[in-house]
Amino acid sequence: MVREVSAMPEKGSAILRLSRISKNFGAVSALTDIDLEVHAGEVVALVGDNGAGKSTLVKVLAGVHQPSSGTIEFCGQQVSLDSPSRALELGIATVFQDLALCENLDVVANLFLGHELSPWSLDEVAMEVRAWTLLKELAARIPSVRQPIASLSGGQRQTVAIARSLLLNPKIIMLDEPTAALGVAQTAEVLNLIERVRERGLGVIIISHNMEDVRAVADRIVVLRLGRNNGIFSPDASNQELVASITGATENSVSRRLDRKAGQHNDLSGGAA
Ligand SMILES: Nc1ncnc2c1ncn2[C@@H]1O[C@H](COP(=O)(O)OP(=O)(O)O)[C@@H](O)[C@H]1O
Ligand SMILES: [Mg+2]
Repeated sequence: MVREVSAMPEKGSAILRLSRISKNFGAVSALTDIDLEVHAGEVVALVGDNGAGKSTLVKVLAGVHQPSSGTIEFCGQQVSLDSPSRALELGIATVFQDLALCENLDVVANLFLGHELSPWSLDEVAMEVRAWTLLKELAARIPSVRQPIASLSGGQRQTVAIARSLLLNPKIIMLDEPTAALGVAQTAEVLNLIERVRERGLGVIIISHNMEDVRAVADRIVVLRLGRNNGIFSPDASNQELVASITGATENSVSRRLDRKAGQHNDLSGGAA
């Protein structure tokens, strides 16, 4: 029996450590020998082309898939994430891309949906207060917690989904493409929210296709390619380095375009300085 660890780990200490995680689906190797560390108060971006294994890795950490081999340490102890409830119980929360919110229910109802075992579940007033407090702490822009989800913007929905996962006091939160469907202002709102979550001392894993968002918020960028680790970068890595690592090519049409654009920007700022 693994001892539960409930205190928040010290900032910078490793919360999660994956060693040589592999996952096969029959003859398909979705993940091969993946190493990954996530520290308290850190945002790790997981990037890679379609089929790189990002979703499979998230599902392994969410307890949806069992790894074929390898070990997972959580707060220094080897753990087995053999079900989604086990992952949640340990403190690994996941916001899947579809958010799974109920359109016709209001913000409070959505926040507490599926948390029926929580002490607030039957007390409407306590739930509303808790909802307000949390959203305020997150500096979330939700006009009223009694508003139905259907009337909220994409950014506000993402906020509600993230807030909901925080109610279980996780130590790690995983976000799958949190800005994929959002405009510029809403994206900024969600990136701010991710920073608030990091300030609370959580480890954040964000999957994103948007390199601008990744650079804006990530402390480390972990590249997967064909189910393997293919490099770890700091957010100031060049687009060319990142794209090369993601695609496996040293030069391709995407990196050439990005470099051309970066070159134009540099010329402009150089001229103005
Ligand atoms: N349930 C599954 N059964 C069989 N193959 C799968 C399954 N899930 C993912 N795969 C395969 O694993 C590889 C990685 O997929 P995935 O994790 O979805 O990548 P990504 O999220 O980076 O696009 C792909 O080749 C995919 O076809
Ligand atoms: Mg995926």
